[in-house]
Amino acid sequence: MSNAGKQWWKEAVVYQVWPRSFQDSNGDGIGDIPGITSRIPYLSQLGINVIWLSPVFGSPNDDMGYDISDYYSIMDEFGTMADFDELLETAHNHGIKILMDMVANHTSDEHEWFVQSRASTDNPYRDFYYWRDSSGVDDQGNPLPPNNWGSEFGGRAWEYDENTDQWYMHIFSKKQPDLNWENPKVREAIYEMTRWWLDKGIDGFRLDAINIISKPEGLPDDPSVDPDKHSSSIPFVIHNGTKVHEWMHEMNAQAFSRYDCMTVGEMSATPPSEALGFAGFETDELNMIFHFEHMGVDSDPGAGMGKWSLQKYDLRELKKVLNAWQTELDGKAWGSLYWNNHDQPRVVSRFGNDSAEYREVSAKMLATVLHFMQGTPYIYQGEEFGMTNVKFPSISDYRDLDSLNMYDDFVTDRGSLTPVEGMELIYAKGRDNARTPVQWDSSAHGGFSTGTPWIDVNPNFTEINAQAALDNPDSLFYYYQRLISLRRGELQDHMVYASFKPLDAEDSEVYAYERHASNGEKLLVIANFTDHDVERSYELADGRQQLVISNYSDDAGDTLRPYEAKVYKISD
Ligand code: NOJ
Repeated sequence: MSNAGKQWWKEAVVYQVWPRSFQDSNGDGIGDIPGITSRIPYLSQLGINVIWLSPVFGSPNDDMGYDISDYYSIMDEFGTMADFDELLETAHNHGIKILMDMVANHTSDEHEWFVQSRASTDNPYRDFYYWRDSSGVDDQGNPLPPNNWGSEFGGRAWEYDENTDQWYMHIFSKKQPDLNWENPKVREAIYEMTRWWLDKGIDGFRLDAINIISKPEGLPDDPSVDPDKHSSSIPFVIHNGTKVHEWMHEMNAQAFSRYDCMTVGEMSATPPSEALGFAGFETDELNMIFHFEHMGVDSDPGAGMGKWSLQKYDLRELKKVLNAWQTELDGKAWGSLYWNNHDQPRVVSRFGNDSAEYREVSAKMLATVLHFMQGTPYIYQGEEFGMTNVKFPSISDYRDLDSLNMYDDFVTDRGSLTPVEGMELIYAKGRDNARTPVQWDSSAHGGFSTGTPWIDVNPNFTEINAQAALDNPDSLFYYYQRLISLRRGELQDHMVYASFKPLDAEDSEVYAYERHASNGEKLLVIANFTDHDVERSYELADGRQQLVISNYSDDAGDTLRPYEAKVYKISD
């Protein structure tokens, strides 16, 4: 079936809920499903019409739900299946669809399949995972792993199991063994589970790490691995493997195509040319993918430390990446638009300015740049009122295994970073920046919980919170509301479907582009990324241009004030 032309999922605006930190309803300090249900009216007021729900399945939470031990149940801490059904019904009653987050590259080591698999070499589930012999022994006679792959969370990607004298593969933590998609039984079990959820009435899936399911034949060493560095990135050789398209096609035929659902695949190390294969209008695989290229502009690839190498970003580089995605997909494939998610630092602290003076205006500017692009936009919880990064004083305040492993490795074990340097990396790039509880109001714990939150609330909650934003008609919340309503309403053709034309690629201070709609009208989007005035002139239309939205109350013409963003509609 062709995906060209108008589709509801192209016109949607998605909001990501990371349940553990969204809203606690029972005072145990952990966000839960009834908490989400209680906030559906708020999301409806914002105007979004799809929720991406990060994993709520049974899980021992080694990686906060991305380690699933039972695909058919709800995590105890989050509630029950009845709670989930109520959430789904409430969301649907408000015109909001729900995407589940399907983690199918790996399971938890506590999943029954893996418990069976590790029991013996002849267990029927043995081949559900990747088990391999040692590649030899070291000087002390200790077994050596099958190859040199490192894990995304540091250390190697293999764990030795004495019971059967073999190693199992884990691209993420050792409690997240990789499923063997080569085994047709694995694929059928995943498709069946997918259909079960779709039959229940959910509206689609975000597919976790889905472009690494096809490992290269013979599992060769990865030439890019440097054993002296904390890898913090997935072995390059496993991306977009030879069978991944065949299996996505199969999954589409076996599940997605049978429902009116939406699919988005998470894909690291994927350029636009690869996205055409996954999300092309005629490929029958996925509706769209999340790429990571713009999330890499503030890391130094040469340092071999993945995201943990800080580099000041250059706006020209950010523009180059985003512009390439806009132009290369146009008319051929669909894209997704995001600044934030549960794995990324907060965008206002990253590409904007989170000082008291500029937080709101720079967050509005960033929202403008993203939401006027082609693709389906995603908003991450708290982004809509400008939540910022956090700087907790001690490593013991942090919870994410990715940050804790990095700190252990570099500060505690190798001593190659001082504690202060280790904390600086976490302040800039740690995933807990996105995972502190949503700041609902200025009451204790930001109104997130009546108990003690599982991770502290950002101390700035007394000023930055949803209630304060709702009380201020000029707030970021209402700015997002307006962007969403323009996209879902009067400017749908322009914001969703119009083609994109970049302007002034070499301008390192201003991001400007046009959208050309099929009715001959165009939008001109202008955004000053600096904290000072700049002078720029653009071709307008002799007074026939109409200012559609701006983050300042007036228009200063060619003078762009700090973080000013404005959009004109121009008719010929
Ligand atoms: C990507 C998810 O977004 C991230 O949170 C998780 O740690 C890994 N995949 C492993 O599932």
